[in-house]
Amino acid sequence: MANEHLNALLLALESSPENIPLRKMVATEYIKEKSWEKAEEHLKFILQYEPGDGEAKFQLAEAYYHQRAYSTAIIVLEELQEMEADNVFRKILYCRCLLKDGSIAEARQTYMEIIRMDPKFEDAELDKEFRLTGQSSESESDEEFLERTLGMQKPSVKFSDVGGMEEVKKEIELKIIKPFQHPELYKAYGKKVGGGILLYGPPGCGKTHIARATAGEVNANFLSVGINDVLDMWIGNSEKNLHNIFEVARQNAPCVLFIDEVDALGANRSEMRGASGRNVINQFLSELDGVEADNEGVLILAATNSPWHMDPAFKRPGRFDRMIFVSPPDQPARSSILEIMLKDKPIENVDFNKVAKRTPEFSGADLKALIDVSIEAKLMSAFDSGVPEPIKTDDLVKAGKKMVPTTKEWFAKARNYALYANESGLYDSVLSYLKIKK
Ligand SMILES: Nc1ncnc2c1ncn2[C@@H]1O[C@H](COP(=O)(O)OP(=O)(O)OP(=O)(O)O)[C@@H](O)[C@H]1O
Ligand SMILES: [Mg+2]
Repeated sequence: MANEHLNALLLALESSPENIPLRKMVATEYIKEKSWEKAEEHLKFILQYEPGDGEAKFQLAEAYYHQRAYSTAIIVLEELQEMEADNVFRKILYCRCLLKDGSIAEARQTYMEIIRMDPKFEDAELDKEFRLTGQSSESESDEEFLERTLGMQKPSVKFSDVGGMEEVKKEIELKIIKPFQHPELYKAYGKKVGGGILLYGPPGCGKTHIARATAGEVNANFLSVGINDVLDMWIGNSEKNLHNIFEVARQNAPCVLFIDEVDALGANRSEMRGASGRNVINQFLSELDGVEADNEGVLILAATNSPWHMDPAFKRPGRFDRMIFVSPPDQPARSSILEIMLKDKPIENVDFNKVAKRTPEFSGADLKALIDVSIEAKLMSAFDSGVPEPIKTDDLVKAGKKMVPTTKEWFAKARNYALYANESGLYDSVLSYLKIKK
């Protein structure tokens, strides 16, 4: 192979072998040519004269790596790490060497450090080893993988399938559906579109249900993400996961991105207090803010049972500046929930109002359980009598008597926060639900 440039350099080096800058140029040429053995020879020479030359050391490690002398490369790189711990390129090579050398735990640790330094780092081989396991197909991108595993849906439920929750529907309409349908109007008034709505309240009262119905209402895709899953999926890779999830939502716009258990990204969670926790939160905030990519067509809803655990940075304007209390359904709401839930069931003259009256404090989930219990009882007697009978009012009332509403426990806790940590009236709606005067 004729490399005139290299030949000229070599000729010059013959007459002045101790010219280190010249020798560096020679080494670099050999690296370009992938002549690793030759490169190694020159780099060693250089390092005898200039043992502190980080660049030459790194190149030497590269030369060893390509000659499969992984453990030697590791030794060289470890010397380098001490000199410059925050150099990401060196860490990447180090990580590769560790992996090849069979030091999987150390390699993983290093990989985590790399991701922390550069959340967008991508490397087919390392990602395959340390990121989401179960990534089946080689050709599948991260986004495609997430799309498949997270389960993108196109819900058919609409607001009409949600009983009660009139206030919540109105807020969602105003804050995210209207801006989504008429972005130009909002722009004309200089109103920034963006941010999301945070739904909070006791379990089983329809947070997930209304989020799904929001997608159905605007005929959008629905992507539901439990934030705890993101945090667990790959230790140390949460930032990248978060980024990819938002990317999937953007690519599938219009899309409702529903982030469940968002309190896991909490200021009060000890595991979120450290540096890596902070990184995850910052990544989340910049995705929300649409710093790197436009969130147009992405409607963001989040839900939590423990809003008091959330990082205050989330509640700033343009983020989750609208917190909505999703209370247990009141009597009329319970009545319409029952009606919705029994729509396709065999019933006869059910007085929904009467059942609603007898089920104070029941959540939507409780009502669902109540219906399940009644149906089971009906089934049992159908087995005995051989005659299937429709569900009647009394069946439901009877089933309700045996049940305790599951929302009580939540209010016992929420009450304290609402009374003693009610900054700027955050929990006023909880207080008014509990009929406590401010
Ligand atoms: N207002 C409602 N109208 C119709 N169905 C409802 C309503 N509220 C709750 N449900 C039903 O009750 C069940 C529980 O609701 P959902 O899962 O939305 O509660 P959640 O607030 O998300 O609870 P968690 O905090 O435990 O996640 C669902 O099957 C849902 O369909
Ligand atoms: Mg839910």
